[in-house]
Amino acid sequence: MRTVEFSRYGAARDVLELVDNAPKPVPAFGEVLINVKAASVNPVDCAIRSGYGREVFKSKGQVGTSAFPMRLGRDAAGVIEAVGDGVTGFAKGDKVFTAPTRAAIAEYISVAANEVAAMPRNLTFVAAAAIPFVAMTTWSALVDLGGLTEAAAPGKRVVIARGAGGVGSFAIQLMKAWGAYVASTCSTGNVAFVKSLGADRVVDYKRERVSEVLKDYDAVFDSAFDMEDELLATLKNGAGASYVTIVSPKVKLADQHGVEAGTRLAEEEYACRAAAQKKLGRNYYWSFMQPNGAALAQVSRLLELGKITPVVDRVYALAQIADAHEYSESRTARGKIVLDFER
Ligand SMILES: NC(=O)c1ccc[n+]([C@@H]2O[C@H](COP(=O)([O-])OP(=O)(O)OC[C@H]3O[C@@H](n4cnc5c(N)ncnc54)[C@H](OP(=O)(O)O)[C@@H]3O)[C@@H](O)[C@H]2O)c1
Repeated sequence: MRTVEFSRYGAARDVLELVDNAPKPVPAFGEVLINVKAASVNPVDCAIRSGYGREVFKSKGQVGTSAFPMRLGRDAAGVIEAVGDGVTGFAKGDKVFTAPTRAAIAEYISVAANEVAAMPRNLTFVAAAAIPFVAMTTWSALVDLGGLTEAAAPGKRVVIARGAGGVGSFAIQLMKAWGAYVASTCSTGNVAFVKSLGADRVVDYKRERVSEVLKDYDAVFDSAFDMEDELLATLKNGAGASYVTIVSPKVKLADQHGVEAGTRLAEEEYACRAAAQKKLGRNYYWSFMQPNGAALAQVSRLLELGKITPVVDRVYALAQIADAHEYSESRTARGKIVLDFER
């Protein structure tokens, strides 16, 4: 089968290698084997290819293994080729999508069945592949930690940073589908685009100070790197408001100091920041995407109802993966970048 691997950290064009004859995995107990038709490229792929997370991911065996070659990819859409023992609810031939624990960019991937959901019937594989990773990232942060469930979201005032990105463009749509009032931030050229996603209030952070124009919000979802203080200042005091970030320093600290010392430093840093917010009556969280097939099934229904639309910026063939990484690293992508395995 075809896949993409790298055996040293570096620039996309220097290290990514197309492989034509990798062995096809065999689904273990509780797993399904998926024939991948499309997969997306996420900023974390480029970061990992450059060495980010080498200590944490190695220790967890999450992406690649402790030894090269490593593979990338955090989500995929395709067709079930085989089901392992113990799997119920899926059968050969089902169209599915997933944000799995294991690397997803390969023609066949074996995935725990509870990390998989039926693909929305109205979507192509390319459109479906744009969803799982950003959807489960949003779910882990805003729903699981921030408490913004379908029942709790109506009427809540939510700030979603970096609204033009893959995560932000999904998060805006999910919160609007559930009846929240959404403010979002982006640069000047993305204002019209972010408004078109349904945001009620869009702040151009190049021209306005976020903390001056947004006040008394119930929740912040942060996927920008350098706006934590600005975004915290938009929250209500003394009312259980929540700040959730997906760009915490946790992984970087482990890379710099090793997993043990880095984790300790991260815990200290987290405790300090969380305590400062607690004094203001707020919750403070660092969030990481958790695979969740049941949540993905709920998202699938919202896609079928047309309440959420995948935002696909560019589509590349698998052989063009270096171009796709370079576009992601250009910091100008609007929505998602997808690899079409059938091109
Ligand atoms: N913890 C987790 O589980 C998790 C999961 C997914 C993603 N993440 C992280 O969340 C961040 C956002 O992910 P994403 O997929 O939404 O990213 P993305 O699609 O690449 O975001 C692109 C947008 O980000 C904005 N941007 C501003 N400054 C940037 C910078 N220095 N670098 C890159 N983009 C910049 C640009 O919009 P404007 O010009 O409008 O600002 C651009 O259109 C990434 O850092 C990613 O690694 C974390």
